[in-house]
Amino acid sequence: MANKFYITTPIYYVNASPHIGHSYTNIAADALARYNRNILGKENVWFLTGTDEHGQKIKKAADEAKLSPIEFVNQVVTQFRDLWKKLEISNDDFIRTTQDRHIKCVQKALQILYDQGDIYEGKYEGWYCTPCETFWPLSQITDKPEGNGLASSGQSHNLCPDCKRQLEKIVETNFFFKLSKYQNWLIKYIQDTDQNPERIHYIQPASRRNEVLSFLENNKLEDLCISRPLERLNWGIPLPFSPKHVTYVWFDALINYISAVGQFDAQNIYRSDWWDKDVKVVHLVGKDILRHHAIYWPIMLEALRVRQPDTIFAHGWWMINEDKMSKSRGNVVNPVEMVDKYGIDVYRYFLLRDVPFGLDGNFSEEAIIKRFNGDLANDLGNLIYRTLTMIEKYYAGIIPELDVYETSYDSRGEKIKEKLVDLKKEVSVPLSWGNDFSLALEKIWEIIGITNKYIEETKPWNLVKEAKEEQLKTFICLLVTSIRKIGIEIAPFMPKTAESIFLQLGASEIRKGAPLFPRIETKKK
Ligand code: ME8
Repeated sequence: MANKFYITTPIYYVNASPHIGHSYTNIAADALARYNRNILGKENVWFLTGTDEHGQKIKKAADEAKLSPIEFVNQVVTQFRDLWKKLEISNDDFIRTTQDRHIKCVQKALQILYDQGDIYEGKYEGWYCTPCETFWPLSQITDKPEGNGLASSGQSHNLCPDCKRQLEKIVETNFFFKLSKYQNWLIKYIQDTDQNPERIHYIQPASRRNEVLSFLENNKLEDLCISRPLERLNWGIPLPFSPKHVTYVWFDALINYISAVGQFDAQNIYRSDWWDKDVKVVHLVGKDILRHHAIYWPIMLEALRVRQPDTIFAHGWWMINEDKMSKSRGNVVNPVEMVDKYGIDVYRYFLLRDVPFGLDGNFSEEAIIKRFNGDLANDLGNLIYRTLTMIEKYYAGIIPELDVYETSYDSRGEKIKEKLVDLKKEVSVPLSWGNDFSLALEKIWEIIGITNKYIEETKPWNLVKEAKEEQLKTFICLLVTSIRKIGIEIAPFMPKTAESIFLQLGASEIRKGAPLFPRIETKKK
């Protein structure tokens, strides 16, 4: 069992503001980091996020903003940092690919691979769109003119997939990384992890692992072009062995996971406290970047003789009306607006609960309101509020004390006790085996549900009427124990709510505040 935990998110492009898709991965990673800190201790968990600041996209956005690339990225990066603060994201570090530590590590990795013959010089042929300043490999040119794509003159009419204008054929000198050499190794590695009981699946969820494996088994990997000539792109990390080229942005970006926590030494051995054998390393990414993480990255690491991460988990997409949310489609939802309207924890809860991690989900405010009024106002909020009200009314605000585990209850009470004892495990299994936040939360809400039901069925007002003091006390103590346990378990997902629970019910005297989640009234149609 690993006793340390290193969790990462993708580093996001800073060509535009962050949207809810980005916040989703960071909230999920934050919940895992917080959860693991509770189990392993704060000092044994490292949580990394950051920004991807080089490449064509960024250069173009900077040009449009009439700023130098570095001025531009410095501006946008603040929006990401501010959002993570607002969402209570507890990252331990924030890497930017324009930082020296990162550039140094990328150049060293390139040099090692070049010296050992895994990077070589070659000719790159493809099609260039001058207005878009984009280079398209033949495989990506799908939009051909009517017919067979060949004009009667015999000329090719390849069109830009973006702007549909005529592309120009370009042949240029570039550098290639020998992906193909490692194809069989990767197939075997992915298959072997199935026999490794510690690692479960290297690529998760299983459907993504099968997708990658079947791609590798049915296609021959082409070597990856890892450079761009300076005359076409000057915003990137210079290749140490060819000053006329900069590094392809994906080769640069992937290295962030190791450049943030270590460096190669003089003997070309990578050294890091967070990438040792005793660390469980987990990458969370969206399914859009699965291939980069499940094919390029493992091969880069293997070629550099650096150990593999334990898990690469590709989650699904948040869609808007069945369409993927993305900057280019112009249908993005601003997380800041959602948080201001509904609150941080409601937003966090909704994203983690509404859709099983790994599947796609449809984002809508109606869906948030439904979760809010149901799970939060009716179930959790109500349980806390009515318990506090009873303590206020029957005990003048002083919480009665009793060890519920040493006390006998009726069958309903005994069932709650049993569930409380098991809760920690019930939450831990779906989280540690499959990052299944939704199921973990469902387990917590089961307790909330049966505790609420216990109140309804016990009818405490009758106990008061009949002066059954001892029974009332044992009853209230079980509610308090249950709520405190719920507070502990929801803390990684809803840190502010947990804090508030402990503020109100943590000491010997209650501090009743307003209801945590007052119902949202929706207009009747
Ligand atoms: O790809 N639903 O950056 P990026 C869910 N810089 N998650 C979404 C999403 C959506 N609709 N949209 C974005 C890059 N995401 C590279 C990464 S890593 C070495 C380099 C999330 O700004 C999801 O995590 O395009 C996705 O993988 C990531 O944002 C893409 O962010």
